[in-house]
Amino acid sequence: MAATDLERFSNEEKRNLSLGGHVGFDSLPDQLVSKSVTQGFSFNILCVGETGIGKSTLMNTLFNTTFETEEASHYESTVRLRPRTYDLQESNVHLKLTIVDAVGFGDQINKDESYRPIVEYIDTQFENYLQEELKIRRSLFNYHDTRIHVCLYFITPTGHSLKSLDLVTMKKLDSKVNIIPIIAKADTISKSELHKFKIKIMSELVSNGVQIYQFPTDDEAVAEINSVMNAHLPFAVVGSTEEVKVGNKLVRARQYPWGVVQVENESHCDFVKLREMLIRVNMEDLREQTHTRHYELYRRCKLEEMGFKDTDPDSQPFSLQETYETKRKEFLGELQKKEEEMRQMFVNKVKETEAELKEKERELHEKFEHLKRIHQEEKRKVEEKRRELEEEMNAFNRRKVAMETLQSQSLQATSQQPLKKDKDKKN
Ligand code: GTP
Ligand code: MG
Repeated sequence: MAATDLERFSNEEKRNLSLGGHVGFDSLPDQLVSKSVTQGFSFNILCVGETGIGKSTLMNTLFNTTFETEEASHYESTVRLRPRTYDLQESNVHLKLTIVDAVGFGDQINKDESYRPIVEYIDTQFENYLQEELKIRRSLFNYHDTRIHVCLYFITPTGHSLKSLDLVTMKKLDSKVNIIPIIAKADTISKSELHKFKIKIMSELVSNGVQIYQFPTDDEAVAEINSVMNAHLPFAVVGSTEEVKVGNKLVRARQYPWGVVQVENESHCDFVKLREMLIRVNMEDLREQTHTRHYELYRRCKLEEMGFKDTDPDSQPFSLQETYETKRKEFLGELQKKEEEMRQMFVNKVKETEAELKEKERELHEKFEHLKRIHQEEKRKVEEKRRELEEEMNAFNRRKVAMETLQSQSLQATSQQPLKKDKDKKN
């Protein structure tokens, strides 16, 4: 097709046509629903809140079942993430539900790093998904998606204000996950205090720039309820799996000496609102937001970090092949630079060693010369001593000879004397 034809074709207005009869593509949504139902769904909830705040109880209450609950101790040295996956079924819909507990959150004396394991966990799930996407033979169809769809952030019902740990953690998480803040154990705080506490929390979140999940208002069917519910955040919830008889009905409630707090009574707490928003109205939006907003952001940053880009500096499309070539060149260049650096380092090292060896040789030579001088000096002294001794010996010998001569002369003299005496006598 000629270029002008192509242009004309793409610029052509789309025309609306009416059908002569039933064709059947109106069953497409049903096909989609049927396919999704067969495939099943996965939903992953992250519970962040201090030990004993009521996380497990709330999960049990929300899904009306008993998940394994293993109490955490207050002596964890760091925060650790504990995921548990369950297969749930309601009518013909299968839900693979993963509940991730941030065990030990808020229990360390130094809480500076408390958010880090949580962020790392979320990123690891994104990374796993990205790796699956990048595989040549990928199987996203039956991939167990472990990306966190929602973080329920349990706020302690102090009635005061948010703790800095809450603000820091939520700030670190807000670009990675949909956060729904909830005030836990809301039965422990009075109605007027709760009202003020909610306002305080929201204003603190806004002033600290923490982005919490907003129930979507773009779909007409749920816009109204969602915007009403947005105004109720954070939800003040009460959890209980205990059943209490109220009137002639058994309801889930917490019983106190002064009365009964009914979990599903909207004038007692916001549990129903939370369940409605989290499970019945916005579960799919939470899943979608996770994929299109949070995962997309992670993927973009990660790919850019790896050197991938959509356009070159002249805003021209940049293909994967070109990215690969550029990266390869960059890598080879860097390798060469590194090689050159190593070679230079090696040469310098050799030079250094050579200089060191020369210095050592010079020192040895000096030492040798010094020793040689000492030796010569000693030799000279010994020689002198020897000469002196020789002279002494000569002198001694001379004296000895003289003595001997003298002795023999005196001997001679004494032997001649009697003869003379005899001669004298004879005369
Ligand atoms: P860890 O997993 O050990 O961190 O605890 P958790 O946050 O899962 O708390 P859990 O659900 O085990 O509840 C701890 C205690 O709080 C239990 O005694 C619950 O009965 C109680 N509890 C749970 N929810 C509520 C609530 O809404 N109000 C009140 N007053 N107590 C609650
Ligand atoms: Mg628990």
